Amino acid sequence: VLTTAQRAAIQNNWATVDANMQEMGDALFMRYLLANPGDIQFFPKFASAGVGAQLRSNEAFQEQTLTVFQFLGKIVAKLGDLDAAGKMLQERVHSHKPRGITMAQFERLLDLLPRFLQENAGAHGPCADAWRVAIANLMPYMR
Ligand code: HEM
Repeated sequence: VLTTAQRAAIQNNWATVDANMQEMGDALFMRYLLANPGDIQFFPKFASAGVGAQLRSNEAFQEQTLTVFQFLGKIVAKLGDLDAAGKMLQERVHSHKPRGITMAQFERLLDLLPRFLQENAGAHGPCADAWRVAIANLMPYMR
């Protein structure tokens, strides 16, 4: 289970993300796409930009990463009710299915998050570990 202290660690650290959300979203998605370059094909609206430095200035890319991070912010705010948070994620998994995107892709993106927040948003080790616990708790909702 996610303890109150773990939830607080995640929520307090998220303020740092909130203050710089576009940049954070862009950076995480760059990391994701560099690790999974073929996945850019899921995004017709910016696939032609290619996975590289130029993607960061692509407006459709920026809009996408901001959308995802705003959504993650809602999950963070809901962590006190893991069932509600899980159901929100479940809806997104369902909305992605017709696009050929599976839980595996969600898992790969979320797996990057704890270390990303340590390296880019000043999260400390216990906060990253709290994220690992939260993600493990949310994973069953995505199946
Ligand atoms: C659209 C969230 C992961 C591909 C969206 C939207 C949200 C969202 C909120 C807009 C509403 C909707 O269509 O449901 C998330 C979250 C993710 C995630 C929270 C992980 C935690 C991914 C991954 C991919 C992906 C890993 C592909 C590899 C897409 C695509 C769209 C979309 C193609 C439609 C874009 C468009 O053409 O407007 N996502 N997403 N998503 N997402 Fe995700």
